[in-house]
Amino acid sequence: MTRKRLVIGNWKMYIESAESAKDFARVLKRKVRGISGVEVALAVPAPFIPVVSAMLESSAVRVGAQTVSGLSGAQTGGVSGAMVKTAGGTFALVGHSERRALGEDNVAVHGQLVAAASAGLVPVLCVGELERTEDGGHFSFIAEQIRSALSGAQSLAGKLVVAYEPVWAIGKHADSALTSAEVREMAIFIRKTLADVLDRKSALKVPVLYGGSVEPANAAALIAEGDIAGLLVGHASADVTSFVEIISACKK
Ligand code: PGA
Repeated sequence: MTRKRLVIGNWKMYIESAESAKDFARVLKRKVRGISGVEVALAVPAPFIPVVSAMLESSAVRVGAQTVSGLSGAQTGGVSGAMVKTAGGTFALVGHSERRALGEDNVAVHGQLVAAASAGLVPVLCVGELERTEDGGHFSFIAEQIRSALSGAQSLAGKLVVAYEPVWAIGKHADSALTSAEVREMAIFIRKTLADVLDRKSALKVPVLYGGSVEPANAAALIAEGDIAGLLVGHASADVTSFVEIISACKK
């Protein structure tokens, strides 16, 4: 049996009220019902995890967090993996570039991955280079992000998902996203790196997603030709119509 594709929406802070979040979830639940072969997930702002997961309770759409803290105790503003789980979340993005830009380095991301997995959440490790250079330095940059996140945490990688999101391609439009060939090249490299860090068998189980300016216009080509297991969608996931179009483009 071939594995389902995985499409994760990352709302960031685009949806700002619980009412809008609930309305979105209500429509999504109805529209994805007939779409086969795709697992759908939504990474929502932490305060909306309870309302959105309650709304999606009887559907297959999963709900998760956009980050978790790798710390505990006296950490003002922190949200732990256990809190996300209690609120109804089943996964968490870790190491998204917008969090890294706030100063969360590879060591912090490792702590977040461990915290998420230890709490029983699926960690979605986001990696991506800031820029591409002629010498191919982006490959070693990505390898280091993967190695440092997973080092010593291999036993927690059973449910790992990796999302490749080149930072320079985030938040633009379809024509600024990578070509399918570029995505395929990096997906192969990521799987090879995972095989070095984990082992070949475990690495093959890790879905590798692409994110960065995924829109209805490029979703079908990326999924058909990019050699990826699914998509991580930012701005286009905050509009339910375009999100459903992207999910439909991934159906099998
Ligand atoms: P984008 O964001 O789809 O708006 O480029 C993707 C992401 O940052 O997860």
